Amino acid sequence: MASALPKTMKAWVVVKNGPATSANLALQSTRPPPTAPTGSNILVKVTHAALNPADIHFINVLPTWLPFRRVATPGLDFAGSVVALGPAVPAETNLKVGTTVCGALAVAQVFFGAGSLAEYVVVPASLVAVKPERFTNAQAAGLMGIAGQTASLMVQHAALKAGQRVLINGASGGVGSVLVQIVKGLGVKVYAVCSGANEEMVRRLGADEVIDYKAHDPVETFLAEKFKDEPFDIIFDCAGGDGLYTQSPSYLKPGCKFITIVGGPSQGVIPFIKHKLRPVFLGGTPRPFHLLGLSPAGNFARQAAKYVEEGLIKEAPIDSEYSLEEVVQAYERVASKRAKGKVIIKVAEE
Ligand SMILES: NC(=O)c1ccc[n+]([C@@H]2O[C@H](COP(=O)([O-])OP(=O)(O)OC[C@H]3O[C@@H](n4cnc5c(N)ncnc54)[C@H](OP(=O)(O)O)[C@@H]3O)[C@@H](O)[C@H]2O)c1
Repeated sequence: MASALPKTMKAWVVVKNGPATSANLALQSTRPPPTAPTGSNILVKVTHAALNPADIHFINVLPTWLPFRRVATPGLDFAGSVVALGPAVPAETNLKVGTTVCGALAVAQVFFGAGSLAEYVVVPASLVAVKPERFTNAQAAGLMGIAGQTASLMVQHAALKAGQRVLINGASGGVGSVLVQIVKGLGVKVYAVCSGANEEMVRRLGADEVIDYKAHDPVETFLAEKFKDEPFDIIFDCAGGDGLYTQSPSYLKPGCKFITIVGGPSQGVIPFIKHKLRPVFLGGTPRPFHLLGLSPAGNFARQAAKYVEEGLIKEAPIDSEYSLEEVVQAYERVASKRAKGKVIIKVAEE
């Protein structure tokens, strides 16, 4: 152990299931910090956490009556410095006391109540990326957390080729704003769907063309008209909405993938059953439907960091930053579904 840990730490806890409001969440200042890491775990002093829509879902549904969730801390994404290493942390990780790391906790860890909205977390060394120098801890918590990892998963699944033309729906959100940059960096032409208010940011991130879904409502009708003779090679959906998929034969090439991250087990199984399992002769849409679910993992965090190092990810869009005391307001911002990039919590100075 490099330095003595305090006897208590601050951490948010879920006191009751429901929306992420002050009725259901409380900041406690007397939580016991984790004990010294064992095996190949590391102890991280968290400086920043980034929030995700999934946190809100977990606060709502993971039962607080379970014995190990009576004082469960929410939060997946984190950045901070290593303060202690377990005896079996492999030397090839190059992790040392003082290394700044970032990533997202495994869902199981959050399920068992040890989330990232705390001053300290214990994390398997395999789950983290070393923070790229170019970005601050606040930016890294968002980029190498769920958003950057999900964007990396989507790109991996798509097997993109330079010169292709791709539509990205929800391009201004946490995931979309990273995805636009990676896809553009791979030499692909990016058509981004977002509201007009976010056009400037999305163009700066790399979109070649921006489609304002508010000015063209319903957007699928507009896409069918505009792109019927020039259909896309892939559609990435980071916002949801049935119509974009069911109408896709009008603007997505035959045999080409519709890849969505909205509608997984955490958001209802209906789209999956309707779109994945219903055959075309029973009214199914004749385009391959791929619903992806991220299991946070070190290889995705490190892939996002690699995209940073290779210059594909140039920017870390941050919507807003809040103090640890302001987590409820920060979750309100996430729940609004209007965030431009990530909502960040500053837990401590870098
Ligand atoms: N399956 C998985 O593993 C996985 C992983 C991560 C996230 N997700 C899910 O993916 C979705 C996006 O996540 P996120 O973190 O990027 O969310 P987010 O940051 O909260 O997304 C907010 C953004 O969505 C845009 N938006 C809202 N409605 C839209 C619409 N109808 N059309 C186009 N854009 C719209 C908003 O832009 P405007 O203000 O301009 O409308 C805003 O910029 C969420 O549903 C999340 O739960 C799934």
